[in-house]
Amino acid sequence: MNNAVQTATTVTLVVNGEQLTRQVSVRRNLADFLREDLGLTGTHVGCEHGVCGACTVKVNGAIVRACLMLAVQLDGAEVITIECAANDVITDLRREFHVRNALQCGFCTPAMLLTAADIVENNPQAGRAEIREHLSGNYCRCTGYQSIIDAVEAVCRSRTKS
Ligand code: FES
Ligand code: FES
Repeated sequence: MNNAVQTATTVTLVVNGEQLTRQVSVRRNLADFLREDLGLTGTHVGCEHGVCGACTVKVNGAIVRACLMLAVQLDGAEVITIECAANDVITDLRREFHVRNALQCGFCTPAMLLTAADIVENNPQAGRAEIREHLSGNYCRCTGYQSIIDAVEAVCRSRTKS
């Protein structure tokens, strides 16, 4: 009888448009896999238990917390990180964050931009309360949120004005 415990496995996934096959520890979470194995350090790690939102990435089109997923769960998945998210929405959000001082230390910003892009792309009619609710899982210790909401609202309005 074989009592060996499997400690690593092979996963194949698409990260930022590139297909990769990697051997990963079965305990490796997605945030550490992205940062340490792939060098994608725009995914930040704060609380490491699903509270702060700093590790937000997109998996198969949905916003997820990378610290709460194991890399082995990603076999066959498509992952988008802030490094690849250079589309028009992100460009506009970056500009509005910049002109409105919607960041200070910047630790929360990559994840905040990905979460903000999600609401701009899927619900640009959102009002301030909806924007605030959508961003409520992303913590910022610096800005007080007002300028962040202002920036996201400005990009939403730019998409809905006739
Ligand atoms: Fe993942 Fe805080 S590091 S939610
Ligand atoms: Fe510092 Fe948000 S800008 S945590």
